[in-house]
Amino acid sequence: MIKRIGLLTSGGDCQALNATMRGVVKGLTNSIDDLEVYGFDDGYKGLIYGKYRMLTSKDFSGILTQGGTILGTSRQPFKLMRVPDTNGLDKVEAMKQTYYKLCLDCLVILGGNGTQKTANLLREEGLNIIHLPKTIDNDIWGTDMTFGFQSAVNIATNAIDCIHTTAASHGRVFIVEVMGHKVGSLTLHAGIAGGADIILIPEIPYDIEKVVAAIQKRSKAGKRFTILAVAEGAISKEDALLSKKDYKKKLEDRAKKYPSVSYEIADKITQKLGSEVRITVPGHTQRGGAPCAYDRVLSTRIGAGAAEAILDGEYGIMIGVVNGKIKRVPLEECAGKLKMVSPKDQTVKAAKQIGISFGD
Ligand code: F6P
Repeated sequence: MIKRIGLLTSGGDCQALNATMRGVVKGLTNSIDDLEVYGFDDGYKGLIYGKYRMLTSKDFSGILTQGGTILGTSRQPFKLMRVPDTNGLDKVEAMKQTYYKLCLDCLVILGGNGTQKTANLLREEGLNIIHLPKTIDNDIWGTDMTFGFQSAVNIATNAIDCIHTTAASHGRVFIVEVMGHKVGSLTLHAGIAGGADIILIPEIPYDIEKVVAAIQKRSKAGKRFTILAVAEGAISKEDALLSKKDYKKKLEDRAKKYPSVSYEIADKITQKLGSEVRITVPGHTQRGGAPCAYDRVLSTRIGAGAAEAILDGEYGIMIGVVNGKIKRVPLEECAGKLKMVSPKDQTVKAAKQIGISFGD
């Protein structure tokens, strides 16, 4: 019977991290009387440098609705995991030592893509690992849904909703820039839910002329305003043709002129139409606050699914959701893969069907 588990949250935070850890621990303490839970501070940092604390069931009470993470988090890039720290410490060996010193039966790791790669590395190194998919980006391959996503969709949607009234009074063009890193899922969903007129996502490179034409079409139809939901990773058709190296250079140059892609797009629209364009960047608010009801349920299911796998002694997996069912997905199958929006996705088709422009 298992006795000791470790928990850590790594990478950018999101809503429902606490709700998920609560699900895991409640799911285990229901069956194991003398379970010991160790929580590592600030993600992999705590595991590397042996910074942890023992948690009791009290720590997991009242946290279902609490945003952020009771453990703290940090970004520890996967590509640097094999690189010794400034004092020459071998991070992977250090993480293994902490694990063995505490005699852990398994380590439950909550995080996104980068976190998952390191989780898989630790699995390859022989540790018992369970990964739980968190991110507002919903870009983890092997699961239909990540916790945090729906909460962020609600916040980004609210931002677009709020813009609607002011856009209507002033008759302006507005851009709401949505997070999501290299993936457009969050923008697609918030854009549709918020009734955006134009949605620009990385998976569908835009042509600025088409964007401008969509705005003009609305003006001709007597609409006083246009709202664009622009993914932070949105890319133009010309830029999509660049090599990785040239695009990186282009982004470096752009950063000298514009704070983000929305400002570049706004500038081009103003140049071509002379219209005033206002930009709203909800930024990290999209990761903040309490998890929505959907995420609380999802997190409870994922947490309980992790507890079940631990009780079965099955490790080296991510607990995902596939076609509505909790699924144990081997880490070696999913680690390192990104789940992008398919331009042929039914949701994209539906949006196009009702006249939303993707600038393509
Ligand atoms: O991966 C989650 C995410 O919020 C992305 O949507 C965004 O690009 C990134 O993290 C922001 O990271 P940071 O919090 O390090 O600025």
